[in-house]
Amino acid sequence: TTKKKLIAGNWKMNGSLAANEALVKALQQGLAASPAACDVALCAPAPYFAQLQSLLAGSPALGLGAQDISAHPQGAFTGEQSAAMLKDFGVRYAIVGHSERRQYHGETDDVVAAKTAAALAGGITPIVCVGETLAQREAGQTEEVVKRQLAAVIHVNGHCISEIVVAYEPVWAIGTGKTATPEQAQAVHAVLRAQLHHAASEHAAGIRILYGGSMNAANAAELLAQADIDGGLIGGASLKAPDFLQIISAAA
Ligand code: G3H
Repeated sequence: TTKKKLIAGNWKMNGSLAANEALVKALQQGLAASPAACDVALCAPAPYFAQLQSLLAGSPALGLGAQDISAHPQGAFTGEQSAAMLKDFGVRYAIVGHSERRQYHGETDDVVAAKTAAALAGGITPIVCVGETLAQREAGQTEEVVKRQLAAVIHVNGHCISEIVVAYEPVWAIGTGKTATPEQAQAVHAVLRAQLHHAASEHAAGIRILYGGSMNAANAAELLAQADIDGGLIGGASLKAPDFLQIISAAA
């Protein structure tokens, strides 16, 4: 298809006012010299949204993203941020159901589905993460796990499924330097694409499925060349401007 790829950086709990400014300026400089052919998102910690909204004001090609979103519109939910609050700061994307949220914060498929629905209702593009653990892969359960995780989101949001982005992140590849091979990743992406086809055939080809898990400047081109890999969700390498710029240029 001709859809644009999406390269999303997930800064996780990293950054500072000074480090963010240096990183964004370096990215802006790089992209001024060599504009991105893909969409780019920077998913930052919430305390920096105001800083980033102002730094990114002249850079429509760099979209601001959140790393989580509340399932609720407002009220007594200590520590959470609603879609409307994200919108106030120009946030366009929200990562939902990252494996670190599932693992350390007990997010179930139902929670992930509710957060996805809240993002869509609030005009934020959810980047919904799915992926198997090493134990699940070794037990031959990869397909079953990712299909269950994707089904939770598809069935709650049947009518607006075309607005989501899916990210396949094998848990064993996150932050480990152990990337899925392009063949391993493509095989799972094809399963997810088929499931999207089954659920929403008219939209399936247009839904972007990102790969995440130790994607870096050296392996990005080969991963992004796979038929069903429509971009990347990048952790560690998104904190280094030269590396992130190289990944962006590999996503032509
Ligand atoms: O959201 C990003 C992923 O968890 C990948 O992180 O690139 O540091 O392995 P990583």
